[in-house]
Amino acid sequence: MAETMKGLKRTCRCGEVTNALVGQSVTVMGWVAKQRNKGGIIFVDMRDRAGLLQVIFEESDCGAENFAKAEKLRSEFVIAVVGTVEKRSGAVNENLATGDIEIRAKEVRILSEAQTPPFPIESNSKTKEDIRLKYRYLDLRRPDQQQKIILRSKIAAAYRRFLTDEGFMEIETPILCKSTPEGARDYLVPSRVHPGTFYALPQSPQIFKQLLMCSGYDRYFQIAKCFRDEDLRADRQPEFTQVDMELSFVDVDDVIDVNERLIQYVCKEAIGLDIELPLPRIRWEDAMNRYGSDKPDTRFGMELVNVSDVVAGCNFAVFKGALENGGSVRGLNAKGQAGMPRKKIDALVEFAKGYGAKGLAYLAVQEDGSYKSSFAKFMTEEELAALVAAMDGQPGDLLLFAADKNNIVWSVLGALRLELGEQMGLIDHSKFNFLWVVEFPQFEYSEEEGRYMAMHHPFTMPMEEDLPLLEIDPGKVRAKAYDIVLNGVELGGGSVRIFQDDVQERMFTALGFTKEKAHEQFGFLLDAFKYGVPPHAGLAYGLDRLVMLLTGADSIREVIAFPKVKDASCLMTNAPDVVEDKQLTELGIAIAAPAETEE
Ligand code: AMO
Ligand code: AMP
Repeated sequence: MAETMKGLKRTCRCGEVTNALVGQSVTVMGWVAKQRNKGGIIFVDMRDRAGLLQVIFEESDCGAENFAKAEKLRSEFVIAVVGTVEKRSGAVNENLATGDIEIRAKEVRILSEAQTPPFPIESNSKTKEDIRLKYRYLDLRRPDQQQKIILRSKIAAAYRRFLTDEGFMEIETPILCKSTPEGARDYLVPSRVHPGTFYALPQSPQIFKQLLMCSGYDRYFQIAKCFRDEDLRADRQPEFTQVDMELSFVDVDDVIDVNERLIQYVCKEAIGLDIELPLPRIRWEDAMNRYGSDKPDTRFGMELVNVSDVVAGCNFAVFKGALENGGSVRGLNAKGQAGMPRKKIDALVEFAKGYGAKGLAYLAVQEDGSYKSSFAKFMTEEELAALVAAMDGQPGDLLLFAADKNNIVWSVLGALRLELGEQMGLIDHSKFNFLWVVEFPQFEYSEEEGRYMAMHHPFTMPMEEDLPLLEIDPGKVRAKAYDIVLNGVELGGGSVRIFQDDVQERMFTALGFTKEKAHEQFGFLLDAFKYGVPPHAGLAYGLDRLVMLLTGADSIREVIAFPKVKDASCLMTNAPDVVEDKQLTELGIAIAAPAETEE
């Protein structure tokens, strides 16, 4: 039978017992990390979220009954210990905050016994992720995992503190919503009261926060759960958390200013990181041209070079064809990689094909100045020399080229740059390179839909000087949209919103919306704007992503207490799951095809 805490009160956490308490009596409670029985003396390492603490049991201090209990202790038992803090008699453990002290126990109570866990509760676990996620409550007990969740809480608290001090109000918005236009697939919730109708879970609080501006709340923020039914990756979850904000009477620079100070504050509070302001800003077009990405990792160089002009007259069909089709030829200089074995180059070609390339042309500048190349035979000596010079190719360098439509060339070389940066050890992992990407295109053309789509969302304000292009050349219109990027990850994004009727109407036309369709989808927002709407703008951070980067985690799963896996299921609770027929009947739902059952 487990004992109770009756008459005991915890005086501090295990990891909080310090030198300053030597000589004092303390009561600590926590989990047994390890028990070592050395005959007349028993050592127990106790653990709680603050850290480890060594406890010593000797019969002369604690009496026979307590000593017998200490003999029974096993890993993960939950115990309470009353004892005196002493300077450590044995070797001091430099790695532990409590490494120079120990507790001499007078009393121990076993509050809960524990089965042997399915994997050891320790930092740097080698246990496979699916096992850990099945027993996430145990995984969350591991010290390094706990540090990530603790840091997440600290980061969220810092956001709240800063924004509240800056006059932002925290306001909750609904989870049961009408579908919002963020572009991903919605999660739907059937209505029992109105059979055949559905709520959508919010992809973001976008519409509500704009309505709050109409209502005069001026500066809003929320730590908001968002839901998107999209393919999962290391930095994407079906439900994730945004730090969402909206401000009235502001323009781009105002949003950037308050957010730079916010990021500076959060990083300092959370991990003591100093960030210099202002953060660099790069225009979208320059980011694409230099890094092949709208979320450039600027921790290393190896920038893309546009060699279209240099190869314009050549006869190499691949280059010529791309240029004739309105595309471009661009290259990367992998410094010092001329000796890369053929097999490895072939692997890079395959890698490039994974990003839509039809091939990858290469040229290695040998130490004697000669070339080893997949396409040199199609070009003259002069053409090759000009190309190598344009790429700043020195003996020992490997030059890689992609030729295609701009979008493909950017995506191929952008990915290849990151891959080579990693392979060549060019990335300084101690760096935190924040930057703003600004002047995004307003639209991107969807081949699939045969029309322009909003790159951000339909309420994003075009740059004033580009307004005349809305009807004549939509592809050239730039938006008052901005993303904040950290080490190649899109941390957050936002925009200045359209608040004028006529501009909004022109936007809908450019997007191919009829008046009726626009009204059906966003009628309440458009209506609200008729009753006095302030100019407004906002931004949302992916909180999970920021925590991932600040904790050095490889995936956002590590910084979410109860994450989903790749197929959007929860290995611990087994969600999603079938429900009882009665529930379906109440909702007026019939399952069209029987769900596949597992063997
Ligand atoms: P956006 O769609 O860019 O903007 O989202 C903002 C930020 O949320 C994070 N994020 C995600 N994180 C984890 N898993 C996901 N599936 C996921 N999807 C997005 C990213 C992203 O930068 N309403 C607008 C903001 C605005 O205009 O104010 C919005 O939602 O870090
Ligand atoms: P081919 O003449 O098709 O054998 O191509 C010659 C070289 O050009 C090979 O190294 C191909 O990998 C490369 N290549 C083919 N298509 C492209 C492309 N779109 N961009 C860059 N290189 C390409």
